[in-house]
Amino acid sequence: MNFQAKMLRDDALKNKNIVVTGGGSGLGKAMTKYFLELGAQVAITSRNLEKLQTTVKELEEETGGKCFAIQCDVRLYEEVKQMRDEAIKQMGSVDILLNNAAGNFISPTERLSANAFDTIIDIVLKGSKNCTLAFGKHWIDQKETNKTVLNIVTTYAWTGSAYVVPSATAKAGVLAMTRSLAVEWAKYGIRFNAVAPGPFPTKGAWDRLLPGNLKEKFDLAQKVPLKRVGEHQELANLAAYLVSDFSAYVNGEVITIDGGEWLKGAGQFNLLEDIPSEMWDMLEEMIRKKKNK
Ligand code: HXC
Ligand code: NAP
Repeated sequence: MNFQAKMLRDDALKNKNIVVTGGGSGLGKAMTKYFLELGAQVAITSRNLEKLQTTVKELEEETGGKCFAIQCDVRLYEEVKQMRDEAIKQMGSVDILLNNAAGNFISPTERLSANAFDTIIDIVLKGSKNCTLAFGKHWIDQKETNKTVLNIVTTYAWTGSAYVVPSATAKAGVLAMTRSLAVEWAKYGIRFNAVAPGPFPTKGAWDRLLPGNLKEKFDLAQKVPLKRVGEHQELANLAAYLVSDFSAYVNGEVITIDGGEWLKGAGQFNLLEDIPSEMWDMLEEMIRKKKNK
């Protein structure tokens, strides 16, 4: 199977102007590339302007699309409003906000300072809130409709996860915000959805979640029923659909794209997968013998 195949037809995002937070690297960059290929204009934003400018150059050359680099720390509401105004100035308007920027690292929670916990909450939860408020208020004030916000969460937004507690706490908040505003702001013509990716290797995530030889020790592909990690294009296909008008009736949804990973961790008897087939004959016999005893 070709997991790199591109799903939507050419020009599916023509005349759409998109802001992607954290668009200079990793999954944000992959989604931006596909949006550009589909005819959208995209403004990518993060703290590191040089990185953004390099990405803009690379993606414009590769796709022939129009991409803009705007520096912004999503933790700071004033900067977010300036970023919004700059994106509107550069592109004319903004139709789609993709809240993708995040911070995360593994740590036993008792080792975290209060500031370390706050840092993750500030980037993930407050950052998504800042961007959502800045763009949402503008769209509502200007009576602009047919707008979409797509939030990137994780599957532990609903299960929680040890050792990434600030991230789990923040992503759970983003998920609640997604579902709440999908209802409240539908009357203004603004849709909200979320994507919950499983493992999609990126430098940003792997350096902080699987440092050193943890990559070899914990092969994440083995935790996935499909026995592989995700390809960036697979996520980009889903994101492009969710921000496009093809999904105009999808609102308040969170779509998991993880090869079945979280369910495998959840089902009580899923570990029986390790039992070899010859052993099942013996087990079946033992169980059948218990009948009527
Ligand atoms: C404990 C740590 C720490 C660590 C930082 N801190 N790293 N504490 N263990 N490994 C503490 C610092 O000491 C400080 O607290 C506070 O956290 C803030 O750290 P700074 O370095 O000053 O913050 P900042 O420069 O803003 O950097 C933010 C960051 C950094 C989150 C720490 O890693 C970053 O820039 N990340 C952005 C990219 C990223 O994280 N990408 C991965 C997303 S992956 P004190 O008290 O000392 O001041 C993801 C995947 C989810 O979300 C699901 C995967 C399956
Ligand atoms: P990444 O490359 O590290 O992306 C994170 C981005 O956020 C970076 O471009 C970073 O840019 C930006 N960012 C961080 N702090 C910021 C701030 N304060 N203001 C503005 N931008 C900021 O990691 P990734 O793996 O692609 O993650 C992308 C998204 O996918 C995140 O929401 C993550 O939680 C989610 N996710 C990833 C996986 C996975 O397996 N990779 C799984 C589930 C969910 P700067 O450093 O330049 O600011």
